[in-house]
Amino acid sequence: MNTRFAPLQKLRGRLRPPGDKSISHRAALVGAMASTPVRIRNYLDAADTGATLAAVRQLGAIVQWREAELVIRGGGLRNVQAPAGTIDVGNAGTLMRLLPGWLSFQQGCTFTLDGDESIRRRPIDRIATPLALMGASIEAREGRYPPFTIHGGGLRGIEYQLPVASAQVKSCVLLAGLTTESTTVIEPVPTRDHTERLLARAGAPIRRGGLDGAPRTTVGNAEELDLEPVDVPADLSSAAFLIAAGVLVPGSRLLLEGVGVNWTRAGFLRILERMGAIVLVDSEPQGSFAAQEPIAEIDVSHCALQGTEVGPDEVPLAIDELPLVALLGCFAEGETIVRGAQELRLKESDRIAAVAGGLRTLGGDIEDTPDGFVVRGTGGLAGGRLDARGDHRLALLGAVAGVASRDGVEVVGWEAVSISYPSFAEDLRRLAA
Ligand code: S3P
Repeated sequence: MNTRFAPLQKLRGRLRPPGDKSISHRAALVGAMASTPVRIRNYLDAADTGATLAAVRQLGAIVQWREAELVIRGGGLRNVQAPAGTIDVGNAGTLMRLLPGWLSFQQGCTFTLDGDESIRRRPIDRIATPLALMGASIEAREGRYPPFTIHGGGLRGIEYQLPVASAQVKSCVLLAGLTTESTTVIEPVPTRDHTERLLARAGAPIRRGGLDGAPRTTVGNAEELDLEPVDVPADLSSAAFLIAAGVLVPGSRLLLEGVGVNWTRAGFLRILERMGAIVLVDSEPQGSFAAQEPIAEIDVSHCALQGTEVGPDEVPLAIDELPLVALLGCFAEGETIVRGAQELRLKESDRIAAVAGGLRTLGGDIEDTPDGFVVRGTGGLAGGRLDARGDHRLALLGAVAGVASRDGVEVVGWEAVSISYPSFAEDLRRLAA
């Protein structure tokens, strides 16, 4: 499906973006692992997080929508029901990499996971390696791609140094560690910590240390998990597209409510600040590690931008927003450079090639490098056609480029937005009215 986004005069209004995708996946998984029913408010109603609900149902959990609230009744940490057939993760990398952590200690059960064309290109050896060190057995296509099969069994604790900064891999190992005496994950640099926060709230023995240098997180054996109701914040990664549109479209002023601003996710806000954007974040105090996720109201106004540099340490804190940094760079004065972001090549599409190629066809002066982009700001984009390549964040990027461009952008494959932000076009129309 092709959808055209014409240049807009201004965007104005107040809106709550959809629920956080990363936290929704985790809330559903930890909810299904808990011994008592778990209520989840503002769960993201989209294709990716729908795949997680389907998966936990297949594993024996009862999932019910009660008005706007989701209730999950699982069978407990060690009581997964062996599923009939393959578990379909769809397009969801987070589901594909987190779920095996839980499945790997289900004694005597076998599970096969598969997904769409994009997921079949995404490596799982990054989780299979630590899980094998813990004693799990995994067989994957060509040793590293889906479909793959997990044979559940008893696991032993490990100390694991992550070779790449990945919250998905960290989360998988921590979930697997819940039946070991002690399992530690050491990260090269901090990545999103939503799993740790939820596990702490659910009563799992979890400790964090080394936050000044390489973060170390240790989990131990958990008999049971119990989780008080979870309020899923609005997704900063989805809000980021509205924030960018508000910054780029002249005369705009947007207020975005209830947005998650956990610092391990909020790198984009700091990058924007360096670029000179007027984005005010009115947040509540961050609270303790085991409290609900911090949220804020984000107040965005149009303004002029200057180029900036994003280096490897900042990359995991803004990984899904880096395509937007490239887009903003096209409108900024001077150069915008992203380095150390080779992980972008392993996302729903090769986001280095796709973003650079896509923005070039719209008139941007952008070069792809092996680990990022170099963008020379030209004060704006002409417009044209952008192929989403089945990647939701590329489709959304095309829409924002369109409303800020001179001639508009036609997004080829708009339906990809069903993965994380099905109502984006409608929200944009409301803010433009
Ligand atoms: C995610 C972690 C990141 C991110 C993805 C969601 C998560 O992936 O890009 O969209 O929910 O843990 P990596 O762990 O591969 O960096």
